Parts: sequence; structure tokens; C-alpha cells
Amino acid sequence: MSSRSFSVQLTHLTVHLMFLSHRSLSQAADLSQCVRTNTTFNCSSINLLEIPNIIEISPSPSILDFSYNSISKVNLQGFGDNVTLHIAALNISHNKITDIHNEAFRLFSNLKLLDLSSNFIQGKTVGNMAFWNLLGIEVLNLEYNPLRYIVRDTFTFTEMESLRYLDLSHCEIEEMEIGAINLPKLVHLDLSWNKLRTVEKSLEMMVSLKKLDLSHNLFTEISDFPNLPRLAMLNLDSNNIHNIDIRTSVYQNMDNLQVLSLRNNNLKSLRQDAIPWDLDTLLTVDLGNNPVICDCDLKWITTNPFVRARNVTMSCSEPKLLRGRDPLELSRDYFLCNSSFTMILIIVGLSILLFLAVGGAVSIAIIKRKRGRKWNISKDGGGNFKAIYSEETEKDEPTVMIQAEKETLKEMIDASDDEV
Ligand SMILES: *[C@@H]1O[C@H](CO)[C@@H](O)[C@H](O)[C@H]1NC(C)=O
Ligand SMILES: *[C@@H]1O[C@H](CO)[C@@H](O)[C@H](O)[C@H]1NC(C)=O
Ligand SMILES: *[C@@H]1O[C@H](CO)[C@@H](O)[C@H](O)[C@H]1NC(C)=O
Ligand SMILES: *[C@@H]1O[C@H](CO)[C@@H](O)[C@H](O)[C@H]1NC(C)=O
Ligand SMILES: *[C@@H]1O[C@H](CO)[C@@H](O)[C@H](O)[C@H]1NC(C)=O
Repeated sequence: MSSRSFSVQLTHLTVHLMFLSHRSLSQAADLSQCVRTNTTFNCSSINLLEIPNIIEISPSPSILDFSYNSISKVNLQGFGDNVTLHIAALNISHNKITDIHNEAFRLFSNLKLLDLSSNFIQGKTVGNMAFWNLLGIEVLNLEYNPLRYIVRDTFTFTEMESLRYLDLSHCEIEEMEIGAINLPKLVHLDLSWNKLRTVEKSLEMMVSLKKLDLSHNLFTEISDFPNLPRLAMLNLDSNNIHNIDIRTSVYQNMDNLQVLSLRNNNLKSLRQDAIPWDLDTLLTVDLGNNPVICDCDLKWITTNPFVRARNVTMSCSEPKLLRGRDPLELSRDYFLCNSSFTMILIIVGLSILLFLAVGGAVSIAIIKRKRGRKWNISKDGGGNFKAIYSEETEKDEPTVMIQAEKETLKEMIDASDDEV
């Protein structure tokens, strides 16, 4: 055996020993620090670096809590069949998980709740088999993960056929591919606090969805919705929506809508046919905290019977006189387009002033010019004085020319000065 190959073997041995001691040390520490009750095995906040092997735990817990640790990998291979069968809730929130490998939850077909919130999972690294075999799962929480982009087939019914609630809030999501979410049994989807700008076509296929939260995103205009036939509650609060025109789309795609919330947006006005006021199921429309201008364009709201029959929250922001007032409690005489009339008055007034100012300036200039007359006296070859009187009028020519003896000339000048 050469010395070289010996040293290689030694290094390998050292590495192997270190690996073993790390695992056994961390496992020993883990299990003793975890708190057991009949139903729960709680390993929260004990500085775990990986999920411990709990194959020997008995009786089998139904809740496993690994939250608030430093776990970076979802490694659940050390679980025995007997244990996994009983686990209904698995909490790995507030850890350092960066990605989920395919079939990570293969053993957890009876799991009902999975909490992966507050980790570092990115959407592009989630494999399309990541949630495979979570056949009984009802609640999946992924809030506070930097998902950003969700690829096709990330959340599908073939993996999670029973999923009812999916929390993807606070995930910096900018885009979702078509088919990213395909969950026909999903009832509640939370996509609030993301960076979405358009209602994605990827929300199609959710025929059971009742509640959709899209608040705190970056929507500016809304006109088109995906087909969500059971949707009852749509939350679009705290976006920057300045234009909305959803009546047709709601009729076609969400004709079970009951509550529409548009609080905290940038709606200044609202056309009568922008919202499906006459939809039978519609109960509540919240338009609170928008910069609504209560002028002639909104007059229709006082007489529309469907609006009156709904629970509508709304208040005027302008004109100042009506600030804070509920437009539905104002008589239609208040809805004036005063502001445009005032603008016309101001423009006309300014034009008159401008006209007067220009006219005045021109006359003053003319008067000043008229004052610009002068005598120009010179002596000719014969010793006679020559005086030319000129006025700087528009024509700019001398108007008087006099030739005379010195004395006479002086008299004449004096006389002419008196005359003018
Ligand atoms: C836990 O289980 C033991 C034995 O199975 C039982 O006696 C005890 O009452 C249980 N405790 C609770 C809080 O359910
Ligand atoms: C586990 O313990 C933490 C406190 O350390 C507690 O907040 C949490 O609710 C417990 N988990 C369960 C499932 O009881
Ligand atoms: C499986 O769990 C049951 C009760 O939960 C227990 O009686 C049985 O001994 C366990 N089997 C193994 C192999 O741990
Ligand atoms: C983890 O999730 C379980 C199941 O939802 C829950 O009972 C527990 O309180 C959670 N742990 C913490 C620390 O919030
Ligand atoms: C009316 O709407 C407001 C705001 O959206 C809501 O808080 C309230 O519960 C609703 N009332 C009824 C009777 O639905």
C-alpha cells in the first residue's frame, strides 16, 4: 500500500466519523429536549439543524411541531410507517428551509395540515412532485416564503386532492404560470401581500373556490376575471386600483359573488355599469377609503335601486364640502359638476385680464413713441442754419423742415415748442 492511498483512506474515515458523531449528538439532544404529550411531540425552539429521527416514538403523536429551529432540509426519511400513519399535523414553520425535493412528504398520506411558513423556499426550486402523496392534506401554509415565481404544476390535485385552504400570502409573488395552481377542491386561497399586477389565468380550474384574497398587491386596473363559479368573497383591498370595469366578467365567471371589497384603492369615480349591482347574489360592496369625487358623474348612485338594496360602504373625498359624507345619504342636488364651471370662470377671467394687460402695454408704447420728437440743427455752406424737426412716429420721417436766419430760427423753435 502506497503512502498516498493510505492518507486518502484516513481522510475518508475521519469524515465518516465526524458525520456520525454530528448526527448522533444532535439526535440525542433533540429527543430529550422535545416535549411529549399524548397527542403532541413538540420540538419547537430547541436549535435543531435537521429533523430528528423519531422512528421509536410511542405512542405515535398526531401533532409534530418542529417550528422555530434552524432546519434547512425537509428530510423525513427517518420516520417509521407506524409513526407517519398517525401524524395529522406537521409544523416546520420558522426554519431555514430553502427548497423541497420531490416526494419529500411521500410517507405522509394521512397528513391534514402542513405548515411551512416563514422559511426561505423559492418557487422555482419547488419540484413538480414536491407535494406528492399528500392525499389527505386539507391545509397548506406557505406564507412568508420568498416564492416570487410559481411554475406550472406546483400545486395540483393529483398530489393534494383534498386541499381546501392554501396560504400563499407575503410570498413576493410576481407571476404564476398557467396551471401553477390546479386544485378543484380548494375553498380558500390567500394571495394577499404579494406583487401581482394581473389576475392570473392560472386561477382557472378552481371550481370550489369560495374565498379569494388578493389584497395588498399591485393591481391598477381590473376588468377580467378567471372562471370561478363558486366564488363568494373577493378581496381586492389595498391595491392601487384606479379603474374598474368588472360587471361583464363577474356575470360570466363569478356569478355567485356575495362580497366584493375594494377598500383602500385609488377609485375617484365609478361608472354605473362598472360593478354588477344587479347580480342576485351580491350583498356587500365595500368601497371605503377611496378618493371618491361626489360630482355629477356619480349622481346615478342616488337613484339606482340595486345599489340601495346592497350593503355599500362608501364616502365622498371631494368636494371639500361633502368630505366624509356617505353619497347614498345625500340628495341628488349635491352632485354638481361645480368644479368644471369654476374652471371655466377662472379661464375666462384670466383671458380678460390678459387681454386688458396686452392692450394697456401696447397703448403705453405708442404714447411713449409719440414723445420721441426732436430738433436737429446744422449750418449749411452759405452760413445759414438748417433745422429739421422730426417725430419718431411709425412712419419715421421728418414732418417739418425749416431754413432761416439764426435769430428767426430761434423764435420759430420757441413758438413751435409752445404749440406742441
Ligand atoms: C394520555 O394517555 C394516558 C394513557 O394512554 C391517559 O391515561 C391520559 O389520561 C392521557 N392524557 C391526556 C391529557 O389525554
Ligand atoms: C410547542 O411549544 C411551543 C412553545 O415552546 C408552543 O408555542 C406551541 O404551541 C407548541 N406546539 C403544540 C403543537 O402544542
Ligand atoms: C404501532 O402503533 C400501535 C398503536 O399506535 C402500537 O400498538 C404498535 O405496537 C406500533 N407498532 C410498532 C411496530 O411500533
Ligand atoms: C405549529 O402548528 C401546529 C398545528 O397547527 C400548532 O398547533 C402549533 O401551535 C404551531 N406551533 C407554533 C409554535 O405556532
Ligand atoms: C356591511 O359591510 C360592512 C363593510 O364591508 C361590514 O363590516 C358589515 O358586516 C356588513 N353588514 C352586513 C349586514 O352585511
